[in-house]
Amino acid sequence: MSKSARNDWNPNAYSKFRSLRVRPALDLLQSVPSVGGGKLVDLGCGNGVIGPALKERFVGHDLIGVDASPAMLDAARSSGCYSDLVEADISSWSGDAPLGLIFSNAALHWLPDHEVLLPKLVKQLGKGGTLAVQLPHQNNAPSHRVWRSLMDELFADRFDENDVPSALKPAQYHGLLAGMGQLSLWETEYYQVLEGEAGSHPVRRFTEATYARPFLQALDADEKAEIIARYEAVMEKAYPRDTNGRVLFPFRRLFFTLTA
Ligand SMILES: C[S@@+](CC[C@H](N)C(=O)[O-])C[C@H]1O[C@@H](n2cnc3c(N)ncnc32)[C@H](O)[C@@H]1O
Repeated sequence: MSKSARNDWNPNAYSKFRSLRVRPALDLLQSVPSVGGGKLVDLGCGNGVIGPALKERFVGHDLIGVDASPAMLDAARSSGCYSDLVEADISSWSGDAPLGLIFSNAALHWLPDHEVLLPKLVKQLGKGGTLAVQLPHQNNAPSHRVWRSLMDELFADRFDENDVPSALKPAQYHGLLAGMGQLSLWETEYYQVLEGEAGSHPVRRFTEATYARPFLQALDADEKAEIIARYEAVMEKAYPRDTNGRVLFPFRRLFFTLTA
């Protein structure tokens, strides 16, 4: 599969749990203490779900969206919130002037080398500008760990380690960023109720369009069926259904804001 096909996302599959995925983005937005005078950037803007709320909170500022997925950018365009939408890899993108806000919800865990990436982003902030980031911090939970261990067991040579989302430990982000500005760092665990659906486990449906994307993209139909069957067998025990088929799915997310 080509790099550009690997980078493209499916906006419909991603939107399936829209209200659960948008809540942390709104919580992050509420936590932005202030912005500087330059443009605002929605880094890894996806389908632009948070664009309207960003525009509403920071009236009068230009909002740019940056993402590597053409399909997600097309969906973001229809929101009408962005003055510019740029197809670029976050690791190589930079603004043409100091920025007032770099807002990144559920995107930076797709990039490696946060020790290099984050200081580079902070340097792009103008005076009083803020970097605001939310990352899933779920890799040790069964929902994520089991995908990873099944891939290692069944198809270890079929994915690139750099394509697997990951995050540093909170203390590592603190060590990296605390000297660079006013830092606030916290975690929230969201207790998400996932509705039952015939023929699949809800946690598989929640994770297949995001964390499990790089794994499933690397497999043919028979291989996918095999790993999904084994994954769901474990999920039935790790996240049991209630009498209505619903599942209570705890999902941990890490947040930080840094104002220069
Ligand atoms: C889980 S979605 C989040 C989208 C949006 N921020 C939201 O809150 O709904 C992750 C997005 O990050 C983008 N992305 C992942 N890696 C990227 C990279 N290296 N450069 C640019 N965008 C990237 C994907 O294309 C996808 O749209």
